[in-house]
Amino acid sequence: MKEIKFNSKYPSIEDLRERAKKRIPKFAFEYLDGGCNEDVNLHKNTAEIREVELLPYYLSKHTASTMKTELFGHTYDAPFGIAPVGLQGLMWPNSPEILAKAAFEHNVPFVLSTVTTSSIERIAEITEGQAWFQLYHPAENKLRDDILKRAEAVECPVLVILCDVPTFGFRPRDIRNGLAMPPKMSAKNILQVLGKPNWAMQTLLHGQPNFETLKPYMPKNLDLKQLGKFMDQTFSGRLNEEKIAPIRDMWKGKIVLKGVANEADAEKAIKLGLDGIIVSNHGGRQLDAGESTIRPLTRIAKGYGDKIKVMMDSGLRSGPDIARTLASGADFTFMGRSFMYGVSAMGSKGGDHTISLLKIQLQQIMEQICCEDVIDFPNHLISKE
Ligand SMILES: Cc1cc2nc3c(=O)[nH]c(=O)nc-3n(C[C@H](O)[C@H](O)[C@H](O)COP(=O)(O)O)c2cc1C
Repeated sequence: MKEIKFNSKYPSIEDLRERAKKRIPKFAFEYLDGGCNEDVNLHKNTAEIREVELLPYYLSKHTASTMKTELFGHTYDAPFGIAPVGLQGLMWPNSPEILAKAAFEHNVPFVLSTVTTSSIERIAEITEGQAWFQLYHPAENKLRDDILKRAEAVECPVLVILCDVPTFGFRPRDIRNGLAMPPKMSAKNILQVLGKPNWAMQTLLHGQPNFETLKPYMPKNLDLKQLGKFMDQTFSGRLNEEKIAPIRDMWKGKIVLKGVANEADAEKAIKLGLDGIIVSNHGGRQLDAGESTIRPLTRIAKGYGDKIKVMMDSGLRSGPDIARTLASGADFTFMGRSFMYGVSAMGSKGGDHTISLLKIQLQQIMEQICCEDVIDFPNHLISKE
C-alpha cells in the first residue's frame, strides 16, 4: 500500500486553490475554478453538502477503520476517485499523466476525459489498464465505435458516458478570457502568461497541449477557428436512450452514466442495464438554476441504491465532505477541481499530495465517529426528515 504523507504547507484543498491561483495564468485558473452564469450552483454544491451532519459514537467498540471500498469487482484503497477534466494540460503540463500515476499508486480510480491532453493508450500504460474512460458522445457512430475499440483494446474496465452537456455551459469568465473551446491566445492572455514564468517555462518545455485522444481524427494544421468548428461538428452532446442502448450492446465492461440529476434519468439508466450512475451537475458548470448534487443524491440513493451503484461528484473539497456524501447514501465519490488545484499548485507532486491529504482526512473522521467500514457511513447520518 502506498505510504501516505503530505506537505504540511498545504493541509487543505483551499490552500492548494490559493497556491494554484498565484502560480498559473488567470485564463487557465478561471477555466478551472469557475462555474457558469452567476456561480450559484457552484457554491451551493459545497454549502449544501456541508449542511449534512454526522453522529459520532464515542463509547462504541472500535477495532480499526478501513477506507477500502469494493466497486465493479475491484477493491479500491479509498471511496473516492479523480473525475474527468478536459484540457488538463492547459492548467499544468502533464497533469493527466501526473494524476493517473498518483491514482494508480494510491489504488483509486482515474477517469480520462475524451477532451483532455493525454491519450487513452498513454493513460492505460501508466495505470496498467486500470483507468476509466469518459466518452463525449460523437456525432458520427463510426468515430464512437473507433474510440470505444481503442478503450477496449487497452482493457479499460469502466466506460463513463456523459449526459449533462447537451450544450456548452454559459461561462462568463471563459468568454471574457476568450477561452471558449478551444483556447485562444489573445494579447491579454499572453500578458498573463508572462506574469507566470514557472508555468510558461514548464509549458514551453513540454510543448503546446493537444487533444491527444482525438489527434488521429483531426485534420493537421488547423487554425484556432477551424479547430473550434471541428469540435462543434464532431461531438453532439445531447444524449438519449437510443444513443446509449447500442453502447450497452457493444461494450463488454461496466458502464456508468455521469451527470444524472433526477430520479427519472436514474430509472432510465437502470432500464438500459447500466452498472452505475454519477449524480453530478458538472461541478456547477452547466445549469446554474439546478439543484446542488447532494439533494438528488439523497433521493436517488434511497430509491434506487439497491439496483445500481450510485456515486456523486460536484462540490466535495475535503475528507468530511466525502464522509457526508457517503453517509447520505453514495457508494463512491469523485472530485474534479480538488485534484487539479493540487497539480496546478505543486506540479508533479500535486497528485500524490492531494490524494494523501484526502485519505488522511477521511481516515481521521472514520476513527472520530467510530465508523469501521465505508458502508457503515449511513448509520452516522443525522436525518433531517
Ligand atoms: C475544468 C473542468 C473541466 C471539466 N471537463 C470535463 C470533461 O471533459 N468531461 C466530464 O465528464 N466532466 C468534466 N468536468 C466535470 C468533472 O468531471 C466533475 O463532474 C466536476 O469537476 C465535479 O465537481 P468539483 O470540481 O466541484 O469536484 C470538468 C470540470 C472542470 C472543473
